[in-house]
Amino acid sequence: MDLKDAIKKRQSIRAFKPDPVTRDILSGIIEDALLAPSWGNTQPWEFTIAGGDAVKRLGEELSDKNMNKIPDNPDLEMPEKWPDLCMGRYRNVGKELFETLSIGRGDKKKRDQHYENMFNFFGAPNAIYIYIDKELGVYSVLDVGIISHSISLLATDYGLGTCILAAAVRYPDIVRAHLNIPQSKNLVIGIAIGYPDWDSPYNQYKSKREDLDTLVRWADG
Ligand SMILES: Cc1cc2nc3c(=O)[nH]c(=O)nc-3n(C[C@H](O)[C@H](O)[C@H](O)COP(=O)(O)O)c2cc1C
Repeated sequence: MDLKDAIKKRQSIRAFKPDPVTRDILSGIIEDALLAPSWGNTQPWEFTIAGGDAVKRLGEELSDKNMNKIPDNPDLEMPEKWPDLCMGRYRNVGKELFETLSIGRGDKKKRDQHYENMFNFFGAPNAIYIYIDKELGVYSVLDVGIISHSISLLATDYGLGTCILAAAVRYPDIVRAHLNIPQSKNLVIGIAIGYPDWDSPYNQYKSKREDLDTLVRWADG
């Protein structure tokens, strides 16, 4: 697939077919993604790829914790407040996604179901966890962001879908215990990966972007 096509086709996928992704394909994706740039070529990222019963058991426990309102304790602080412009966009994506799913404002049952889905990797057969040493700082987190996009684009090339999930790292101790990840690592992000269920209303939703002119200033005079 042409790079530009992959960039345009990629979208967050929130409903998956149950078919697992083969280890060959997952290895191929990560191997190519490892070509991503990083500060001084430090390559601070490490990965655990969960599948089979491991991903199911983990998703169940994460979603159980969330449903029971157990306070989370992410390794990296998650933003609670946003400047107005960002907050507006954040609210919009939630509102539009729920509209696509026909979930009304007061429909607590369906909203809860959505969050249960989210903590269950939206039913993806595989989840990629990316973590870095606890000694590392903000630029290594940036590096993880860069490689996450590479993973998502490469997955698109294989006909796969991904959803980058902060939700997946809200309870890092549970993830570490299930996946045997050392205490010395900070969990940065999880990525749900699998074959998209294109019949699901979830995947009909395509988020919007600001215009170029709103976000880009030129300084070339
Ligand atoms: C760092 C990061 C964390 C995210 N966490 C979540 C999440 O927890 N739940 C979710 O449904 N989507 C999550 N997303 C997906 C974003 O909502 C999505 O990328 C954004 O709305 C733009 O939509 P698109 O990916 O379809 O283009 C996350 C994306 C990023 C980059």
